[in-house]
Amino acid sequence: MGGQRLLLAVAGCLMCTWGLRAATLDLTSISGPAVVEQLLHLATFSDDPLPAVTRLIFTPNDMKARKYVKQLMKEAGLTIREDPMGNIYGRMHGSTKTTGAVVTGSHVDAIPLAGAYDGTLGVIGAIAALKALGEAGFRPEKPIEALMFTSEEPTRFGLGCIGSRGMSGALTVETLNDKLDVNGTSFQAASTAAGYGGKSHETILEGTRVKPGSIAAFVELHIEQGPRLEREGLQLGIVSAIAAPAALRVFFSGDGGHAGALLMPDRNDAGLAAAELALAVEKATLDAGAIDAVGTTGFLQIGPNSMNSVPREAKLEIDIRDIDAARRDRTVSSVLKSVEEIAARRDVRHRVEMINQDPPATCSQEVITAATEAAKELGASQKALVSRAYHDSLFMSQIAPTGMIFIPCRNGWSHRPDEFASAADIETGVKALALTLARLAGTAAAGEHSEL
Ligand SMILES: *[C@@H]1O[C@H](CO)[C@@H](O)[C@H](O)[C@H]1NC(C)=O
Ligand SMILES: [Zn+2]
Repeated sequence: MGGQRLLLAVAGCLMCTWGLRAATLDLTSISGPAVVEQLLHLATFSDDPLPAVTRLIFTPNDMKARKYVKQLMKEAGLTIREDPMGNIYGRMHGSTKTTGAVVTGSHVDAIPLAGAYDGTLGVIGAIAALKALGEAGFRPEKPIEALMFTSEEPTRFGLGCIGSRGMSGALTVETLNDKLDVNGTSFQAASTAAGYGGKSHETILEGTRVKPGSIAAFVELHIEQGPRLEREGLQLGIVSAIAAPAALRVFFSGDGGHAGALLMPDRNDAGLAAAELALAVEKATLDAGAIDAVGTTGFLQIGPNSMNSVPREAKLEIDIRDIDAARRDRTVSSVLKSVEEIAARRDVRHRVEMINQDPPATCSQEVITAATEAAKELGASQKALVSRAYHDSLFMSQIAPTGMIFIPCRNGWSHRPDEFASAADIETGVKALALTLARLAGTAAAGEHSEL
């Protein structure tokens, strides 16, 4: 009780200090339509005709997008640096050199036939927010950085969030060695050809890992990729937790045979084993008894995939997520048990590959409070949300207090060409981001000069 009252008193005091300073912060230079124009320009760097956006990491269109991002950073007066993985930082200097930076960012890579807003909003919006803070004469105590992460989407190398995994230290040399693109090109070769990279995955990871304490807080602005804000007519979502993804690949193989000649008692049908497993995934997920538990068999392939053959091979890719890691792991274990049980009963061979099994993130109260207060200051409607998709924030949360700000997107759509967020919602999101960053970074004391 006493502790709670003390916390409230401290929060109240911080707010009144802020109230005095915020009065001088004029963010009218943030314009939704101007940010949209930049997002749509970025969208022109696409392997598919607009409105579809396809942009794989380190391809020519990704390199054009990087050049554009750096141009915007330069125009915003930010100091640019890039790491060996190709994460791009644009820094607004703070008045103290001794603290970590407040960092905000997202990604600009896009899966095939995606849209113009997923990820890009959190990069273009971050630069717009920092530019506006500079123009408003805001001098932060802590440095603030806009960040573009390398390869949030798993499209090219089969692993998502490569840049943020590398920064957080969650990525091993072995994992990176295993990931080749469709042409057999390694991350080392592709990143080096793009002007980043290094002589080995080891040196690349070493040069990318963030030093402890160098990030004071991280916040990511993103479209919701779900329908909740739009349905409730709300302008902002303040993320409280990010669901933990796990993914596994399961192979069954039987002996196959002629669909007419092979009698039912003599079959070991790999396709039926896969069908049973897909149902077992659904059952294990429902048995978790929580609305936040989700399980999907999104890929199922049988071979030889011919009408008059008993399936000999089956491959499934299964995605299981939850905001509770222990409960998610119980669902995964239950699915693994079903694999064994089905394989034994149907006399098929089996093999399982864990693709990834990442921990969930609980967002930082400090960031949640800063974003909530920012939303209030704007007079924007808001609610707390769980992020069911995962983001670079999931990995940043391992090394820094982290949070996310969502804006509504039409019908909750994303990863499709008709993905859309309105200029008005984008403007609210960028303003909320700017105010959140200002709160987290603090105002330089009068007379203090920025580091150079
Ligand atoms: C793989 O090679 C093909 C043929 O040379 C090329 O068109 C494609 O862009 C390459 N894919 C990647 C991701 O580099
Ligand atoms: Zn994204």
